[in-house]
Amino acid sequence: MIELKNIKKVFVRDKNRIEALKDVTLKVNEGDIFGVIGFSGAGKSTLIRIVNYLEKPTEGQVIVNGNDLSKLNNKELRDLRKRIGMIFQHFNLLESKTVYHNIAIPLILNNISKKEIDERVKELLEFVGLADRANAYPSELSGGQKQRVGIARALATNPLVLLCDEATSALDPQTTHSILQLLKKINKEYNITILMITHEMNVIREVCNKVAVIENGEIIEIGRLIEIFGNPQKQTTKNFVRTVVNDRVPESILEQYRGDEKERLLELKFIGGKAKEAVISDASKKNNVEINILYANFTELKKDILGYITVSIKGDLKDIDLAVGYLEDKGVEVREVIR
Ligand SMILES: Nc1ncnc2c1ncn2[C@@H]1O[C@H](COP(=O)(O)OP(=O)(O)OP(=O)(O)O)[C@@H](O)[C@H]1O
Ligand SMILES: [Mg+2]
Repeated sequence: MIELKNIKKVFVRDKNRIEALKDVTLKVNEGDIFGVIGFSGAGKSTLIRIVNYLEKPTEGQVIVNGNDLSKLNNKELRDLRKRIGMIFQHFNLLESKTVYHNIAIPLILNNISKKEIDERVKELLEFVGLADRANAYPSELSGGQKQRVGIARALATNPLVLLCDEATSALDPQTTHSILQLLKKINKEYNITILMITHEMNVIREVCNKVAVIENGEIIEIGRLIEIFGNPQKQTTKNFVRTVVNDRVPESILEQYRGDEKERLLELKFIGGKAKEAVISDASKKNNVEINILYANFTELKKDILGYITVSIKGDLKDIDLAVGYLEDKGVEVREVIR
């Protein structure tokens, strides 16, 4: 649906060259909710603005819905942009216009009849849960409600793709959650592909099926959600993952543990929906070892569960090895906890 191929973007300001994007390649498939995460200044906004040619790349190709954007004339580009909705961190609503009017703007610009506009706006108001606020002005709305207006406006022209630039960064956690639920509904019910950029891993965790990590204008890691959360490779990715996944064994647990030769302290990593209790008790029964759960931590990803369980395992060394082998055969990753 969206393909960026070897994108480079250089800004020149006061004779300084800023390489905002260095060599970015990524592919968003139809139906994806694709997240791009990075720190401030990493190049996220530049990347998303390149997708609808609000920013033209210095080098590289942008392909949206099969169209190479560099090959389109102005009219064709305008037409394609109608199929690319965008929402923003600070909503970008017209303060002097009502909610109704804000949502109607893209339709008015497209010379659509009043009657059709009215039908569409009412449908959208209903969809985003603002049917009773049609005549309110943006200043009378909460942040979450303003973003709902932004979303309805972005959906007005039936886009194929929705671009979200930090769409929840100005909102509290509760409101963020409700907006993310709405984005999921849009993705599912309207079959709209979503590309979102954020600096919050929790946002990615809740809605995305794929994620790319961007740092200094480069994609340093990219993959399905479970891969990135379960096995982050780069330090920056690990730091982002740590903001939502707690894989550290608490000090208090480590202090209690007095390992001797017949006991090992292990951290078991469960990815996906494997039956944990059964695997652990089977490993224990089959190999004549005692396994005690000391600490467990689970994180719900969009579709999967990622779990870390710290256990102490007691028995003869060879039985312990067999039990560990059993767990590994069942797809559990086992790591020795170092005190
Ligand atoms: N129009 C511009 N002119 C000059 N430099 C720019 C321009 N737009 C962005 N930059 C620079 O490009 C780099 C990437 O900026 P960008 O806005 O894409 O980052 P970002 O990841 O969106 O950051 P934030 O999280 O703070 O929004 C920064 O160094 C920024 O100063
Ligand atoms: Mg930005």
